[in-house]
Amino acid sequence: MKVLIETYGCQMNTADSELIMGILNADGFEAAHSLDEADVIILNTCAVREKAEARILGRLTNLVPFKKLKPGLMIGVVGCMAKHLGESLIEKVRYVDFVAGPDQYRNLPAIIKNKRKKAEVHVEFDRSELYTGCTPTRPKGVTAWVSIQRGCNYVCTYCIVPHVRGVERNVPAIDILDEVRRLVSQGFSVITLLGQTVNSYQDGDINFAKLLRMVAQIEGVEQVRFTSPHPLGFSDELIDVIATEPHVAKFVHLPLQSASNDQLKAMRRVYTFEGYLEIVRKLREKCPEIAISTDIIVGFCGETEEDYLKTRQALIDNRYAFAFLFAYSERSLSIAARTMKDDIPNEVKQRRLAEIIDIQQKISKEVYESFVGKRVEVIVEGYSRRDAENAVGNTRDFKTTIFPKGDAEPGDWVEVEIESATSQTLVGHCTRILKKGRAPVIEAQLDVGISLGPTEN
Ligand code: SAH
Ligand code: SF4
Ligand code: F3S
Repeated sequence: MKVLIETYGCQMNTADSELIMGILNADGFEAAHSLDEADVIILNTCAVREKAEARILGRLTNLVPFKKLKPGLMIGVVGCMAKHLGESLIEKVRYVDFVAGPDQYRNLPAIIKNKRKKAEVHVEFDRSELYTGCTPTRPKGVTAWVSIQRGCNYVCTYCIVPHVRGVERNVPAIDILDEVRRLVSQGFSVITLLGQTVNSYQDGDINFAKLLRMVAQIEGVEQVRFTSPHPLGFSDELIDVIATEPHVAKFVHLPLQSASNDQLKAMRRVYTFEGYLEIVRKLREKCPEIAISTDIIVGFCGETEEDYLKTRQALIDNRYAFAFLFAYSERSLSIAARTMKDDIPNEVKQRRLAEIIDIQQKISKEVYESFVGKRVEVIVEGYSRRDAENAVGNTRDFKTTIFPKGDAEPGDWVEVEIESATSQTLVGHCTRILKKGRAPVIEAQLDVGISLGPTEN
């Protein structure tokens, strides 16, 4: 049987799609390279905002014709929305064959093989599930995701994630280090460590700062990135590792959410704006080349115009390289949905959102344009999807850079002189190759049967 997985949501889900495909491959399932070829279509879903779920439900409707054309075709919904909606998903979309939550992926081969008339729903939590012994199927290349943590122990009031992914569990450090060594032996040299609050990682004496240093020092690892840290517990030790380890990316995604302490309290983010600024200050002091990005929510319960203006000013003052900006979306199960009033009118949310998007876009463009005329070091990660003559990579501070590939190959460190910039990309030409990599074969995600659903926003 051939399987196609379509992924929605955050990087954790992208990594989970590779995990699911690995579990299925180990059981004899093959990758489908298109919808037509698939015997099983799995949507790995997100529930973080209403729009994310609406889009996936729309996508499910679009899949009806495939089901009609191919009577045996199975459609499954897994991931966060599967856990969120559970049985009710079957009532909403009658032709779904199975629903599986984030802790149920080991059961997928059996669920698919035992195909029943009635849809199967498996959404129970398993607080011990770390998928130990399962090998994800990754497209060959330079970059690899490594999940070091599942679930989340925070209780941000707006957020559904802990309610669909369960409590925090950390993968033993020894397993993470083994996996990274194995990845290096397969040609991967850029590793991104993933967790909902990665810096709360702890395994015995090994905290996140120590783990990060150990991963960065593995022979053959050229660059380590991580996402997302929480401002609470963003320690001096971690700042020191980022500043001093040459193979750790000089880039931190540090979600602020709001610059109003009243809002931060209502959100239960457990830090103050001043505390957050102190981390930013130290990061920039210890590591002047650091790039910082953030997440912001506007229009959360009770947000006054004054609260909002503080957040807007913080975006201007902090000069983030980029920011993911959201209007608050009430999620059932969340604490806010149960105990607070979603009282900011949609027009106000949308106006605030549009304003800050506009502001951030200008800042990002200025930040990126400040590189024009400069030479930067870039690790080549692949070729442009639009034009295979162009190489694509990232700078040490995680700026996507495009340039005519010339002799540069995936895995190489090259020097690029920047000629122009958009608010998301640097464009230039290669001036020299600094260090040859091992030029792994680059595969598209579809080669392993995974595709990305359209991104939200
Ligand atoms: N664990 C990560 C965030 C994961 S969700 C962290 O704590 O940083 C990614 C982002 O989605 C959050 O940072 C937040 O900005 C946004 N988000 C989460 N729930 C939301 C909601 N109900 N409405 C709007 N945005 C939300
Ligand atoms: Fe959600 Fe907060 Fe956990 Fe992030 S830290 S996943 S925002 S509850
Ligand atoms: Fe990620 Fe969405 Fe789940 S953001 S953790 S896929 S709810």
